[in-house]
Order: sequence, then structure tokens, then C-alpha cells
Amino acid sequence: MSTNTTSTYSDFHLQFIAGEWQTGKDDSTNTNTNPYNGDTLVEIQQATKDQLNEAYDAATQAQEAWAKQTPAARSAVLYKVVNILDQRQEEIVDWLIKESGSTRIKAMVEFGATRAITLEAATFPNRVHGEIRPSNTPSKENFIYREPIGVVAVISPWNFPLHLTQRSIAPALALGNAVVLKPASDTPVTGGLLLAKVFEEAGLPKGLLNVVVGSGSEIGDAIVEHKAPSLVSFTGSTSVGKHIGELANGGEYIKQVALELGGNSPFVVLKDADIEQAVRAAVFGKFLHQGQICMAINRIIVENEVYDEFVERFLSHVKTLQVGDPNDQGTAIGPIINEKQVQSLRDKIDEAQKEGAKMLLSGETNGQLVPPHVFTEVTREMDIAYNEIFGPLIGIIRAKNEEDALSIANDSMYGLSSAVFTADMQKGLRFARGIRAGMTHINDIPVNDESNVAFGGEKNSGIGRFNGEWVLEEFTRTHWISMQNEPREYPF
Ligand code: TAP
Repeated sequence: MSTNTTSTYSDFHLQFIAGEWQTGKDDSTNTNTNPYNGDTLVEIQQATKDQLNEAYDAATQAQEAWAKQTPAARSAVLYKVVNILDQRQEEIVDWLIKESGSTRIKAMVEFGATRAITLEAATFPNRVHGEIRPSNTPSKENFIYREPIGVVAVISPWNFPLHLTQRSIAPALALGNAVVLKPASDTPVTGGLLLAKVFEEAGLPKGLLNVVVGSGSEIGDAIVEHKAPSLVSFTGSTSVGKHIGELANGGEYIKQVALELGGNSPFVVLKDADIEQAVRAAVFGKFLHQGQICMAINRIIVENEVYDEFVERFLSHVKTLQVGDPNDQGTAIGPIINEKQVQSLRDKIDEAQKEGAKMLLSGETNGQLVPPHVFTEVTREMDIAYNEIFGPLIGIIRAKNEEDALSIANDSMYGLSSAVFTADMQKGLRFARGIRAGMTHINDIPVNDESNVAFGGEKNSGIGRFNGEWVLEEFTRTHWISMQNEPREYPF
């Protein structure tokens, strides 16, 4: 781990607008608390719509000059960001633990993913390229330019706040755009203000990155409906995502949307799988960050022949997980982000029992610590299987055979990630290709993200792809320019 020679960042009670740290002017306050012990971390006066307008004006003004900078100059800022992240790793990990309830393991995973996408984005300025296409019109030449999209609005969630924010803002900025970001109210620091400090320290020109802290229900619509952004990059729930999609395409100004929404990842264990390895994967893929991951395992589907063995081994492994202080090295399961989410998990536990699922493992909720709950004899239509859980609860479904397992896996309105375990790679590939999802991992967990590989979902899990050239395309616009070299003959 690198040594931090600089002083730690402060003043997280302020907004970052037009390159200045300023006090929010709204009457309301965001009290940012540690979900493990309830400590107040910072109180932030929220932003008004006027301050949002100021952010958009600054972004619009700054973007033109930024787009004209050389690719090398833009890359240099991103590389500097990577250096600062490395220098401040301990400080950042500490914030992820105290603000988002990340265990140490999760915070390190998130830090690594954030660093990786920043490094990938640093290569984007030199990877953007156009095309020359033949023309069927005599003497015409066709050029396809790829240009910055302009101003990008980013709205991010609280579960992987640092990474899921950086996954949008680093590519957006690298590609010559400006950003107005609204982090989730539960994680205004790791989801935005901390990154603003890092970009500021890296020398990003003023106005290109604006962080507006306010409640989604108060300023969310105004962020989307504003004239300035040409693209809204949203990561969060399917219900809010649908609303944003409607606003972006039904309001006065039409804009593009990139929507990364909810999931219901199936984890399928076929009868020839290495059961011990499948169990280890299932436990990590389910309980990392208390199950609060869009790609987290939401349903375990096991072929009949190995169902009982899988359940027995899974249970004994889950029983070893330490629940408690996320700052403790040994903790596997830390706190749930807020009271509302805790209540929604309690309701799910009650509902699963009402619907006839067998609860093999449970425990008392203590503050915002919810211990693992395991249900068996779950069927595909039960709430715990059909809807997104976003917590440390899991139902295990029995499948008659491979065909039945595939049918259950596909019986969802979501299509983000998925996984299948088998000893036969050809069978695994056939099975994976039968799944309607953006991502499927054979003999691994559904929770995977590599900065150079297409990431995203289909159905109600959203539209668009992150990472590599996929996000490069998403955060730029295509412009066809033709050149008529000789006078053209027109019919009239
Ligand atoms: P949401 O309630 O959707 O919140 C996400 C963001 O949207 C927050 O910044 C929130 O602000 C904002 N928001 C809320 N209402 C808004 C509105 N009317 N207009 C504009 N913005 C608004 O989701 P969440 O509870 O934070 O996260 C859980 C959900 O997100 C799960 O369904 C999960 O699957 C999904 N998720 C998906 C992914 C990917 S990659 N697909 C990643 C993480 C999470 P406030 O915090 O101020 O309300």
C-alpha cells in the first residue's frame, strides 16, 4: 500500500460548482451518517435549482475549450488522477467503509475497479477515431467523425458509489465532455465530492466537473430536463430509470440515455459441477457487500441430483461468515445502507415464509446489520426469487434438469448478469448462450466487471454498455460529413 504524504481532504460540507467549493443554498440538509454506528460524518446544505443551473452553465462554457485540448493533455489529467488515487488509497478506502458500509474486502475491490476504469479512460483520447466510407455519388467523399457529446448528466447510486460514478465521469471527461453529477444522498462523498477533490488536485480545468448534492426527488427531474445535457448516464433502480427514460424522451429536449438498472442474477449449478467450488462462488457472489450489488446472485438454481448436497455445503459455509463492523478485517457482512432498505429486507423475509419457502438459516437484525437468511424449496414465482433482493437473503430453487434450469433462469424481467457451473465447458457455453442477459460467467460468479469488456444489461436491466470501446461510443456522437469534390448533377 502506498504512503500518503499529503493532508487528507476536508470541507465535504460544500458543493463543487463551476470549479468553486460553495455552500448549498437550499433550506434542507443532507445528514450523512455511518450506516454501521450512526455517527454523523458530515452535514451538507443541499443545492437549489439555481445552483444546478449554475453548474450546467459552467459545464457548457468549459466543455468547448476542453474538447479542443490535445488528446495528450486530456490523457495527462486522467493519469494524474490514477496517481492521486494511489497516493490516497487508504483515505479513500476509509471513506468507503464509513460512508457506504463497505467491508474492507469490498472497499478494496471497489478501489481496484475505480483505478482500472480511470486507467482505461486515460487511453480514450488517443483511441477515438473516425472513418472514411465509399460513396455511390460520383466525386463525393464520406467522412465519419466521432466528437464529444457535450455535457453529460450523471446520476449514481450508493452501493459502489466511487466506482459507479467514476465509470461514467472518467470516460466522459477523457472524451472531451463536461459533467454535472448528482451522487446518491446516502453517499455524497464517495459518490462525488471525493472524486471532485481528486480531479481538482489533478488539474482538471474549472467547470468541467460539477458535483451537485441534492435529493433525487427534489432536483432529479430538473437535472434530466435541463437543456444542457445531451446524454443522461443513470445507474440505479429500474423504477427511477424508467422515469428518467420517459423524461429524457418525452420532455421539451430529447436526449440520449444510458441506463444501468436493477438485476436478478441466476446462479445455476448443473449436476456435473464441482460442488465445493460452486458453493464457494455462490457464497462470495451472494454476500459480497451484503448482497447490495446489481449483479449479486439473486436466485440459486440447482439441478435435482445435487440439490441436497449443495444446500448442505452452502449452509455450512454461510454459517462461518462474520457479521459486524465493516472496518474489522474478518468481517464478511457489514451493515445495510439505510433503515428503508433494512425494512424492505424484513418484509421480504416475512413474505418468503408466507409463500411457503423453508427458512433454514436466519438471525436477529441488529441496528442495520442483517445476518444471512437462507431459504430452500423456493419456486420461481415467489417474491424472493422473482424480484430483486438487494440484501443478504437467498432462495435456492430445485430444477428438474438442465432444460428446466434454463427456463427458470430466463424467467425474469431483468437481464443483467448470470452464471452457470458445470464440468463441461461446451455444455456451459451452450447454456450461457441460451440466457437472455448482457453477461454470463461460466464457473464464476455473476459479479464481474473488467474495464476493457462490455458491461451492461438488457430487458428491465437497462440500455447501453460501459467500459472499453463500448463506452467510448456511448459518450461521443457520430457526425457524417461529406465532401462533393466536383459539381453534382441534380434532376431539377
Ligand atoms: P435509486 O433510488 O434509483 O437511486 C439512484 C440514484 O437516482 C440516486 O442518486 C438517487 O438520488 C437518484 N434519484 C432518485 N429519484 C430520482 C429522480 N426522480 N430523478 C432523478 N434521480 C433520482 O436506486 P438506489 O436505491 O440508489 O440503488 C438500488 C438500485 O439500483 C437497485 O435496484 C440496483 O440493482 C440498482 N443498481 C444498478 C446498478 C447497475 S450497474 N445496473 C448498479 C448499482 C445499483 P437520491 O439518493 O437523492 O434519492
